[in-house]
Order: sequence, then C-alpha cells, then structure tokens
Amino acid sequence: MKVKIKIRRFNPEKDRKPYWAEYTVDAEPADRVLDVLVQIKGYQDGSLTFRRSCAHGICGSDALVINGRNRLACKVLVRDVGKDIVVEPLRGLPVIKDLTVDMEPFFRKYRSILPFLINDEPPPHIERLQTIEARARFDETTKCILCAACTTSCPSFWANDSYVGPAAIVQAHRFIFDDRDQGAQVRLALLAESDGVWRCRTIYNCVEACPREIDITRAIGEVKKAILTGDVD
Ligand code: SF4
Ligand code: F3S
Ligand code: FES
Repeated sequence: MKVKIKIRRFNPEKDRKPYWAEYTVDAEPADRVLDVLVQIKGYQDGSLTFRRSCAHGICGSDALVINGRNRLACKVLVRDVGKDIVVEPLRGLPVIKDLTVDMEPFFRKYRSILPFLINDEPPPHIERLQTIEARARFDETTKCILCAACTTSCPSFWANDSYVGPAAIVQAHRFIFDDRDQGAQVRLALLAESDGVWRCRTIYNCVEACPREIDITRAIGEVKKAILTGDVD
C-alpha cells in the first residue's frame, strides 16, 4: 500500500522555522511507523533525523507524536494509523533536529528524584533479600523505559516545564515503595516541593501515552498519599 507521511522538520542550522515535509512510501500494513521513517532516510532523504535503537519497544528512544498521540514509532503499525500519517517531535523539549529532541531537561528531572537504591547498612554477603509481596509493591513502576511519552503529553508540564513530571514520579515510586531502600522520606520531601507531585491535576494523558501500560496516575496518587501520611507500606 502507498502511505503518505507528513513529518515536521527543522534544522536549526539552516531553517528559520519548522516546516512540514511530505513523502509517499510503499509499506505493508504490518510495517511499523519506524520502518517507514527508516525507508525515507535510506531511499528518499538521508538528512531526515530521528532517534531509535532497539526497534522493539525496550529502549524508549523513539517516542514521537504520531497522528496527534505520543507513541513509540517501533510499536505503531501502519495498519493501526492508516494511509495518512503525521509525525512530530515530542512536545515541550527543545528540538535538536527534525524528530530528535534534547532529552537532557527530562533526564535532569529524573536524576533529581535520586533514582538509585539508598541504603547505608553494610550489604549482607549475599543479596538484600526481599519477599515476593514486597517486590510486588513496586513491580509496575519498574517497567518504565524512560521514553518521556508521559511527561511530554502532560498539559501541566506544557504549562510549566519546571514540573518534575510523571516519568520522574514513576521512577521515584519505584524506590519509595521498595522496602530495601531508606531514602523514601528524602524523595517524598523533594516531591512535596512546589514543582513536585501537586502540579499533577489528574489529567490522565500520561496513562494514555505510556507504551508500558503503567497506571501512572495511580502511582502519582500513591506518592501524594505517602507525602500526606508519611506511610510508605
Ligand atoms: Fe515512558 Fe511510561 Fe516510563 Fe512515562 S512511565 S517514561 S510513558 S515508560
Ligand atoms: Fe499530567 Fe498525568 Fe497528572 S497527564 S496532570 S501527570 S495524571
Ligand atoms: Fe527502542 Fe522503539 S527503538 S523503543
């Protein structure tokens, strides 16, 4: 089938503003949008710039706005979006070139919530053991691949880019509710600040955007409750 694809392009070294470029590509219904982009880059315009790595929904590097929704290009099939496809870079992050955005502001927020195990007790000579139930408490938020689809779909983030954003809160949740970790109160204090969890207005765009189907709003709600009660069980 012939697929028409419109791509929002911008090269800050030579373009004064972004513009739409249109391409027609032969594609199979089971091809992914990423395959279409690769085909354009390989056979029509080698200057088209986009980021991708694993091509299997694991690395989180090819989140884009596809037909108005934040999606991983390697997980969206042509048959699911039809013959007219519109692709744009993620909103709210600076465009480096074409579909590639600067992820540094996103990762700065990720680093701000201390995304690592904090435990000053001397490690045992084997692993720090944990029950199956305790591991299940934060299992869902371990699935985050840091693709930024959630944060860049959030109207609260668009309105105020100092909001820490849902991805950082999901990552904080992963450690706050881990019973081997001792840094929960430090993270809760960080997230109680003015650019923390209270900027979430429960809009749910993040849940719709997440390729890992994480119930982000519920995770944010649990962090809010833990701030109010101090309880991280
Ligand atoms: Fe991506 Fe989901 Fe993680 Fe957000 S929570 S960064 S949408 S995987
Ligand atoms: Fe934004 Fe998700 Fe909250 S879209 S407002 S972080 S529920
Ligand atoms: Fe790795 Fe799509 S290329 S998630």
